[in-house]
Amino acid sequence: MFAVSLGNGAELRPLEPWQAEEFLAHMDRGRDFIGQYVGLPDVTSNLDATRRWLQVYADKAAADAGRLYGIWLDGLLVGGVLFRVFDACRGTCEAGCWVEPDAAGQGLVTRAVRVLIDWAVEERGMHRVEWQVSSKNTPSINLAKRLGMTREGVLRENDPYRGIRQDTEIWSVLAPEWKAARGAS
Ligand SMILES: CC(C)(COP(=O)(O)OP(=O)(O)OC[C@H]1O[C@@H](n2cnc3c(N)ncnc32)[C@H](O)[C@@H]1OP(=O)(O)O)[C@@H](O)C(=O)NCCC(=O)NCCS
Repeated sequence: MFAVSLGNGAELRPLEPWQAEEFLAHMDRGRDFIGQYVGLPDVTSNLDATRRWLQVYADKAAADAGRLYGIWLDGLLVGGVLFRVFDACRGTCEAGCWVEPDAAGQGLVTRAVRVLIDWAVEERGMHRVEWQVSSKNTPSINLAKRLGMTREGVLRENDPYRGIRQDTEIWSVLAPEWKAARGAS
């Protein structure tokens, strides 16, 4: 319906329950890669589960409690970015992302998350954008660094994922930091 250009044939668009089949095909292309550290592939394992997950985000958007957008490259859904948590009263939110392997390494996700944070900070007055990442997930940690986030600490072995307890790093950027960095670039 509408799209934000990310350049080089890439677009950020709303991702909604009616796109469940397209989402499932995308997830099937990237399931192993995306599931290395995050459970998204597990909660979108078939069409019904995918519709339910997309509906959770439609409900969050309606309640202003979260957001979900897809990344399309040359018309193919290849990834997404989201606000898993969005608390406008407290001015805090938590962003997340994924991309299928054939579309990784092009800066698509960095550009998409920048659009999200710009909106959260500039339009919605968010003060703090958080990033939670497995300490083993180097590509996502690199992404947090590219976004100018600060590493705040580690939740030790807090996340039992596929039978192994993972450490979770907490990264964040605050609105004044974001605005200063955007102003300088
Ligand atoms: C985390 C994840 C989204 C990162 O994907 P990514 O493709 O590395 O991220 P980007 O799209 O921002 O691309 C950055 C890479 O493209 C390169 N790049 C190329 N052109 C670029 C550009 N114009 N701008 C920025 N980066 C560019 C960067 O150098 C970087 O590669 P490097 O890390 O080897 O240096 C991906 O690894 C993933 O989906 N993992 C599985 C799901 C997951 O773990 N999600 C995060 C949960 S916290």
